[in-house]
Amino acid sequence: MSEKTFYITTPIYYPSGNLHIGHTYTTVAADTITRFKKLKGYDTYFLTGTDEHGQKIQKVAEEAGVSPKAYVDGIVAGIKNLWDTMNISYDQFIRTTDPEHEKTIQKIFKKLYDQGDIYKSTYEGMYCTPCESFWTESQLVDGKCPDCGRPVEKASEEAYFFKMSKYADDLLKYIEEHPDFIQPESRKNEMINNFIKPGLQDLCVSRTSFSWGVPVDFDPGHVVYVWIDALPNYISALGYLNDKPDLMARYWPADVHLVGKDIIRFHTIYWPIILMALKLPLPKKVYGHGWILLKGGKMSKSVGNVVDPVVLVDKYGVDALRYHVLREMSYGSDGVYNEDLLVSHINSDLANDLGNLLSRTLAMTEKYFGGVISEDRETGDFDDSLIELAEKTPAVVSDYMDKLDFSRALEEIWKLISRSNKYIDETQPWVLGKDPEKKARLAQVMYNLTECLRIVTVLISSAMPQTAEKMAEQLKCPAEYLTWDSIQKFGRFPEGIEVKRCEALFPRIELNKKEETVKENKKTEKKAENKKAENTEALPEGLITIDDFAKVQLRVAEVVACEPHPDADRLLVLQLMVGQEKRQVVSGIAKYYQPDELVGKTVILVANLKPVNLRGVESNGMILAATKGKKLSLVTVDGIASGGKVS
Ligand code: MSP
Repeated sequence: MSEKTFYITTPIYYPSGNLHIGHTYTTVAADTITRFKKLKGYDTYFLTGTDEHGQKIQKVAEEAGVSPKAYVDGIVAGIKNLWDTMNISYDQFIRTTDPEHEKTIQKIFKKLYDQGDIYKSTYEGMYCTPCESFWTESQLVDGKCPDCGRPVEKASEEAYFFKMSKYADDLLKYIEEHPDFIQPESRKNEMINNFIKPGLQDLCVSRTSFSWGVPVDFDPGHVVYVWIDALPNYISALGYLNDKPDLMARYWPADVHLVGKDIIRFHTIYWPIILMALKLPLPKKVYGHGWILLKGGKMSKSVGNVVDPVVLVDKYGVDALRYHVLREMSYGSDGVYNEDLLVSHINSDLANDLGNLLSRTLAMTEKYFGGVISEDRETGDFDDSLIELAEKTPAVVSDYMDKLDFSRALEEIWKLISRSNKYIDETQPWVLGKDPEKKARLAQVMYNLTECLRIVTVLISSAMPQTAEKMAEQLKCPAEYLTWDSIQKFGRFPEGIEVKRCEALFPRIELNKKEETVKENKKTEKKAENKKAENTEALPEGLITIDDFAKVQLRVAEVVACEPHPDADRLLVLQLMVGQEKRQVVSGIAKYYQPDELVGKTVILVANLKPVNLRGVESNGMILAATKGKKLSLVTVDGIASGGKVS
């Protein structure tokens, strides 16, 4: 067994319908880091699963005329299929209806009760009789049941409660002493200031108003409620309080719980407190990623704007989708899903940059050397800088991967791909090919490119396993040269191998003519701008030329989502679409606007401002506002679509 272990979990998903592209992000991210750690020699364990109990499931199953278990069985089969389609290599798929999980939950509940952390009392809430559901005041919509819209009334039922407050000080101390425990940093501050410091309420952990749950074995009529059933899945999966606790010793505490920002509170407050009460070590890191938003806000079944990953995989292939979600979601922030962006990633990063690099290199190796690179080689200009980057890249990628910053990790790999494409332009193999005297130089150029492709193959293998396999197949690269160690030094690609070009890695998706025209127009504009800049003359102080002004790129942008900054009352975090490009901007306008009010507004963005980090959140540009005295109004435009220029 390896010394180094790595245990990662995704949340267990509610099987209340099809999973969408947002859930896909979490699972692809967890799969990517697991594969990466495995590549680096870790003994990894990757857990995912489903959270199957509760009143909602019981109700839908009743309506469908089947038992809750039969109902969830069907959906869980679909979820497992989705993970197969997405090439997710989990080690265990836990279901909260697994008998072993249920036994562990009963034992945990009893243990906490026996030691006095759980006590019996009365739960009070707003009750909807037709739905047989309790709601808190804040869950009601216009004072009515959020499910059926009918009036609710105050009611109470007997329930067990967990003493959260008892552990609040210990938790605060732990969080402060373990700076990596909650990531990103901004979420940590939100948890401390908004939830722990104001005081923790005891948590209701059992219910009697429905029966679809783990029964409290010492008090018939009660079932364990939500979080005490769901959160311990991370240890019940390892055999905690079970006959086979061997995985527990090997993998606990978890290295990472990867969760969306909406459930970070449960994972960084309830869960560590449960663990403290059980006297178990806490997970090393809880990472709260942002959400994938659609234009106009969240994806939701009731709004009918859910993006189905299976449809996208059918259309574009699994690795295109994996690449897109990983690249799009920058560290901890929200991302926007937009099919145009996906297509532009496929065409430019995958087909153009990566696909072309492979096919050009292999085609030239076949043309000039019959597919076998000669041993007679001669080094020359441009080699050193390419080699330096190729040798530096693995460590940089590894650092970003460890931070779970997949977007940056991919960006670094793409820098090497772009550098290799540039190397082709610099060395001009087609010119070398015409001169028999330059054969040895040409052989070195082809060797260097093939070697970079080998390194890229290893580096992308965790994010895009299928593509890496296809590349290795075309490069005919033996497995021993596809290891992490083998890419630390440039020049390991074995001699005498015959490469074989096959089909394109990523066929280009045809853009419609209009988009091509917009691109052409942009190029022409750029040329004209450059020309103007050449003509600048000396100016009286304080004045600028039209060319100076033209340096500020102002663009029309549409606000597609907006949220309060997690760590600064004054700031809002806006997601903008500028044509097909997505931008995140942090703006100090929280005093003047509610987040929801901004969605749909068309504002003006300073698009070429250097990015800055504002209290842990990246801001990429600035939006214009007019102010006088205590008033502020955003500058908005009508009738011009986002992406438009302001001049
Ligand atoms: N069952 C609970 C989790 C219990 S874990 C002990 C749950 N399930 S869920 O199915 O509603 O959500 C699962 C995960 O999907 C959450 O981490 C949530 O943040 C994530 N996402 C749901 N919609 C999302 C997006 N649109 N974008 C990114 N992730 C999102 O919560």
